[in-house]
Amino acid sequence: WSGTTRKDDGDLVVGGVALADLAAEFNTPAYVLDEDDFRARARAFRDAFADYDVYYAGKAFLCTTIARWVAEEGLRLDVCSPGELTVALRAGVDPAHIGYHGNNKSRPELRRAVDAGVGRIIVDSFTEIERLASVAADLGTTTAVMIRVTAGVEAHTHEYIATAHEDQKFGFSITSGDALEAVRRVVAAEGLELLGLHSHIGSQIFDSSGFEVAARRVLALHARVASEVGLTMPEMDLGGGFGIAYTTQDDPSEPAQLAVEMSKIVEHECRALGIEQPRLSIEPGRAIVGPSMCTVYTVGTVKPVALDGGAVRTYVSVDGGMSDNIRTALYDADYSCTLASRASQAPPMLARVVGMHCEAGDIVVKDEFLPSDLTPGDLLAVPGTGAYCRSMASNYNHALRPPVIAVKDGVARVVVRRETIEDLLATDVGAVDG
Ligand code: LLP
Repeated sequence: WSGTTRKDDGDLVVGGVALADLAAEFNTPAYVLDEDDFRARARAFRDAFADYDVYYAGKAFLCTTIARWVAEEGLRLDVCSPGELTVALRAGVDPAHIGYHGNNKSRPELRRAVDAGVGRIIVDSFTEIERLASVAADLGTTTAVMIRVTAGVEAHTHEYIATAHEDQKFGFSITSGDALEAVRRVVAAEGLELLGLHSHIGSQIFDSSGFEVAARRVLALHARVASEVGLTMPEMDLGGGFGIAYTTQDDPSEPAQLAVEMSKIVEHECRALGIEQPRLSIEPGRAIVGPSMCTVYTVGTVKPVALDGGAVRTYVSVDGGMSDNIRTALYDADYSCTLASRASQAPPMLARVVGMHCEAGDIVVKDEFLPSDLTPGDLLAVPGTGAYCRSMASNYNHALRPPVIAVKDGVARVVVRRETIEDLLATDVGAVDG
């Protein structure tokens, strides 16, 4: 867990700030964002993929501060909703450096994106191609487009299965011919300029051969378009999905290694197909922001529960849960955690860290060994919560979504404040009127 140290009294320190001090000042639960770590990861992708455009996938986590850091580190930004677009524009990101995704973009949404001068819109259906062409015509402008294709690679967490994955909502199938048809329609549409093809095979992927298979298939289509449509598309995007370590079992690749592997395969394929190499782009989200945040919770109750066979599992309830990290409940994701506010010599006990919500599946960390003298008031830190935790947080049980606090050189600053009950009641018309 990079960037963290422990003080002599056992306090965990992130970005020079003791989590115990942070909890005392800002309360818990809280997401703690290590600025240096985030920037270093962004730069690592930027440097490793120096010949590529690197789009940070805002869906992993986005706020105006992050959008600014991304731009400052020379990355571009992938957004996939009007809300994310608004944050990006509000942060002052150059619209030309924004890529716009989504499988159901409305007409007003497309109009706004085109009007804002978004650098590329990734289209996902024939309906959208028509809609976007008509928006461009209305505005009397030309907009740059990428076509999302389904490369027929099913990527799972630790493996990929070639062929299978046609039956899902994203993209135009290469196999069925829809992808080529989409190319023809975009080319035929006035006001649409085709940049290239886009493929995203999944998320939290460790095995780079999934990317290789996808790259090969997408480049084969590139070559077909060159020969059959007479168009050399200048760009190609291989999406995001690079895995990170949530537990010691995970062994992710470094960006530099990924870059070498991906570039090698693209060069080789282009040579074999006799086509010019398109400019490449990627869209990492999790691999940049995931490891740079942790969540700090306060322990509320400690309850040993007897299991069959005489074993005991201790349920440790914290003051957050599935409302700030849905990933364990939703994907059976693995997390780890550590006592953050003191040292303990007590022998370890098998613990399950659970939230404060009204359902049994409200688990934050399925299994962890924690000191057996754990008591209410202790702080626990869960690392690796930067991606898809705050961004997928909910108000279940009227939970108030936690703040994001950036730390750097011993200074903490709130970049997203904690929600208040007034924030929630503001949308409750009865409460407002009453
Ligand atoms: N580009 C596209 C088109 C995507 O759909 C995604 C993620 C990314 C890039 C970024 O992928 P990343 O590098 O972050 O893996 N909520 C799930 C992950 C959903 C990913 C959706 N698309 C989770 O918590 O694991």
